[in-house]
Amino acid sequence: MRLGVCYYPEHWSEDWWADDAAAMMAMGLSRVRIGEFAWSRIEPEPGRFDWGWLDRAVETLHAAGLGIMMGTPTATPPKWLVDSMPDMLAVDADGQPRKFGSRRHYCFSHRGYRAECARIVTALAERYGDHPAIVAWQTDNEYGCHDTAVSYSDAARHAFRDWLAAKHGDVGTLNAAWGNVFWSMEYRSFAEIGLPNLTVTEPNPAHVLDFRRFASDEVVSFNRLQGGILRAHSPGRDIVHNFMGFFTQFDHHAVARDLDIVTWDSYPLGFLDSFAMFSDDDKARYERQGHPDIAAFHHDLYRGMANNGRWAVMEQQPGPVNWARHNPAPLPGMVRLWTLEAMAHGAELVSYFRWRQAPFGQEQMHSGLHRPDRSEDVAAGEVREVANLLSPSASEVPLRALARTSGSVALAVARSGTSLALGEERTVALLFSYEAAWVIDTQPQGANFRYLDLVFAFYCALRRAGLNVDIVAPEAELSGYGFVVAPTLPTLSDATADRLATLGVPVLLGPRTGSKTAAFSIPEALPPGPLQRHLPLKIVRVESRRGDPRWIEHIESDLSPEHGCVWRAGSLRYLSQWPDAALLDTLVAEMAVEADLATLDLPRDVRVRRNGDTLYAFNYGPGPVTFAGQTLPPAGVALFPTGRSGDDDAG
Ligand code: GAL
Repeated sequence: MRLGVCYYPEHWSEDWWADDAAAMMAMGLSRVRIGEFAWSRIEPEPGRFDWGWLDRAVETLHAAGLGIMMGTPTATPPKWLVDSMPDMLAVDADGQPRKFGSRRHYCFSHRGYRAECARIVTALAERYGDHPAIVAWQTDNEYGCHDTAVSYSDAARHAFRDWLAAKHGDVGTLNAAWGNVFWSMEYRSFAEIGLPNLTVTEPNPAHVLDFRRFASDEVVSFNRLQGGILRAHSPGRDIVHNFMGFFTQFDHHAVARDLDIVTWDSYPLGFLDSFAMFSDDDKARYERQGHPDIAAFHHDLYRGMANNGRWAVMEQQPGPVNWARHNPAPLPGMVRLWTLEAMAHGAELVSYFRWRQAPFGQEQMHSGLHRPDRSEDVAAGEVREVANLLSPSASEVPLRALARTSGSVALAVARSGTSLALGEERTVALLFSYEAAWVIDTQPQGANFRYLDLVFAFYCALRRAGLNVDIVAPEAELSGYGFVVAPTLPTLSDATADRLATLGVPVLLGPRTGSKTAAFSIPEALPPGPLQRHLPLKIVRVESRRGDPRWIEHIESDLSPEHGCVWRAGSLRYLSQWPDAALLDTLVAEMAVEADLATLDLPRDVRVRRNGDTLYAFNYGPGPVTFAGQTLPPAGVALFPTGRSGDDDAG
């Protein structure tokens, strides 16, 4: 695994660049990401390019030996461009333009803006496409950040009508599919159809769902436009994008198909503070560590959508950030732990955001590896330590070097003599669907029914049992997995239902699976729709509640449930309410036994990840913990051989 950093040469005096580059190399970094917000410096006026500074920056970083990941600057169109076509701005759900003055002020559907993007990306790719320092191109930056995947602009309305016409063919078909007879919502032509905002009350959910699908397709085609240009002018370089955490506004699986490396931006403390799925208790306990499953969840999600399995962390939180409601500092050792956890999950790169804290602009309170006064900040020492552990000059394979290091007590990486007899390595699949998130968002039916909360609850139960997890699309190849869980798949197709029922391994399906048709109606035979071919039951009423359980389904069936709400037929289990953690733990344990997967009894704050013949253990707790005979300090990491037969290292 390599280490890298995000760097903004345009923020610093040119006199500093060579020293910065040398210091990056001395720290053990070999990759640097630049350029993703630099449009106003690359093209200060329409058609006038200033390549000089960027040429020199590229040469300086290259001379030091760094490989460059160049970002396309399309997340930050300059003022002159916005003024030349003000209707390129995205429009929010209240109908207000999202104005110039920060970033991401564009609508994915604006054809004029797309042409401008193609122009600047072509110019960059022609200039640097075959430069030996360029190893990768990042398209744009964090699609959808600041709620920007969906726009209610005129451009979006026109493009949506075209999209609808292509999908439904004629407007009568659309009227029937959407159920527009309800409340006299019938249209006479596609040209009459508007966007589903500013309606008196809730818009038709079928209208909303098609709009969400459309908006997602716009992100996919926007990315594909850039990727195509970059591939043509810069052969052999990886095309990457940096996705966000806990974000479902577009179909990341679809964008990922056009990428060589899927990357994501990991801010565990910011995420913990920002999401309602974490209890106040967890927010307090993991304030400086992040909840133990946040980073791992995304590692498994993004690895699971990567072509050829290549994925990376493009931005790693280095210290306090600026954007959460509260921004605590990580515990000493956490930056190192987060880096090693990414390695345990198979990342090829961890890149820190950012080299130096900027003293100006919106993110001046966001820390970096260096302070604004150019001296090192806390994380720099931890990065150097990880870099030493990974260094090929250790003349041993990196893992061995890691295993034998005995650092300071607080940061010790231990390799335990204890072998954990875990048997053959096998994984569990968790099915993740962006469309499921849109369906639930569109008609939650209970204010606390949130897709990501449900998914995360399933994921945490798998992690508490010490299992390796792949988070994959419902269409993914599922053979070879020990068992499969799908927290919910509301628009499950007949084909997916049949495939899951005949996989031959335990399959757990969560509430609301099969509850809607693809056109957002209740299935004719009632939920769980196509699952009824394999599970003889009908859901005749649902209720949502403020307290626990937050969702209950009333069932008609000749079957009798296990644990009060688990309906079984063959290898299929259907869960008819929102599960609590204890029930999920029980179900995971049962399925692991059926699948012959070894589980572990982990202390509350410890999480593990198996990688080859090594099990990594991480202490996310505020105090020391003992696991398998090894005491781990806070932020401590331990490695255990997994005792495969024939491994005489195992003791
Ligand atoms: C990310 C973004 C970066 C920076 C960072 C701050 O969302 O990609 O540009 O804003 O957050 O934490």
